[in-house]
Amino acid sequence: MRVLVTGGAGYIGSHTLVELLGQAHEVCVLDNYDNSSPVVLDRVRKLTNGTVTAVEGDVRHDNTLRDVMTTFQPDAVIHFAGLKAVGDSMTNPLGYYDVNVNGTLALLRAMDEVGCKRIIFSSSATVYGEPVYLPYDEAHPLNPTSVYGRTKMMAEHILADWAQASGGTAVLLRYFNPVGAHASATLGEDPADVPNNLMPFIAQVAVGKRPYLNVFGDDYDTPDGTGLRDYIHVVDLARAHVAALDYAADHSGARAFNIGTGQPYSVQQMVAAFRTASGQPIPVVVASRRAGDIAAMQADSSRALSEMGWRATHTLDDMAASTWAWQSGNPNGFQSEEG
Ligand code: NAD
Ligand code: UD1
Repeated sequence: MRVLVTGGAGYIGSHTLVELLGQAHEVCVLDNYDNSSPVVLDRVRKLTNGTVTAVEGDVRHDNTLRDVMTTFQPDAVIHFAGLKAVGDSMTNPLGYYDVNVNGTLALLRAMDEVGCKRIIFSSSATVYGEPVYLPYDEAHPLNPTSVYGRTKMMAEHILADWAQASGGTAVLLRYFNPVGAHASATLGEDPADVPNNLMPFIAQVAVGKRPYLNVFGDDYDTPDGTGLRDYIHVVDLARAHVAALDYAADHSGARAFNIGTGQPYSVQQMVAAFRTASGQPIPVVVASRRAGDIAAMQADSSRALSEMGWRATHTLDDMAASTWAWQSGNPNGFQSEEG
């Protein structure tokens, strides 16, 4: 298929490009490099020996979208482009609604103009909010507790209404906690600021950029008192997009899929796995709970297996080892090549 990948230079997008090219799909990236750089796409080209057409532009701009759609004529779109920091979303709600919701609207309008009927969307487990039951299945009520989560929920509703009206297909992938890096150690997560998420923070402590990890609470109702999450290796997540494209080829309407492993790990378990992978001590300090955090979350991903034939194959050790290989091999991320 010819696949337009918005936000393809980002963390998840770049890993997905590698998997798409590996399956002989043709790709075109639309990215404004707000949280990434064209260097990432050079790395993808080098790794795959593949062709990656890239357009620098904003997913909210109708004219840019029209040009890309008419030139590339995609069979499907994978829509990663968006803003993802929960804290920022609370202080800049309009900015988040603009990029995440208006960006999705503009993209669907442009798809309609060229008759493109398939879209795979980056949603998030955060759409569920405080668990009514665990593991979350796709029928769990949606009750996001942040602006970021609400932008994802609204975009899901828009996509479902579009699919219904147009006869198109919208695959809504609800990612749990993406971690890890490509096995080549040439692609990985490269946070611009102090990492908000656990794994990149641990990696920066291991490599000596930060003195210790704050453990946000050890008094939760979990076996070791620290938060439980369903971490998913980014390469497994990337492959879920390839499976979703195949699914979209012979289904219509909107369908949500949880993308996790179903096996939660605590903060302490993540630190222990990273100590083993890196051989570094990784000092920790117990701090107070982070506002808005929940004790535990876990995916029921059985729908992704039964309907798309997708399941995660990477282990916790793979997540820690690949993150360490990436972080230690690229202590300044992609920066050294940016000039
Ligand atoms: P990322 O920031 O690395 O990638 C997003 C990409 O989109 C970047 O390359 C950025 O430059 C680009 N972008 C941002 N705004 C744009 C705009 N207006 N026009 C064009 N390009 C734009 O993030 P990621 O971790 O790869 O996440 C990809 C998607 O998955 C996002 O939509 C995110 O909300 C969603 N998601 C991420 C996580 C996670 O933990 N990483 C979890 C659930 C969902
Ligand atoms: C965060 C986002 C969520 C997003 C998810 C995906 C918040 C409130 N939620 O969730 O919307 O979908 O990332 O990546 O930001 N922890 C520490 N010390 C740290 C960092 C984290 O102890 O320095 C703990 C947290 O308390 C949590 C676990 O590690 O128990 C995972 O945290 P994190 O990686 O931020 O992910 P989520 O909280 O699941």
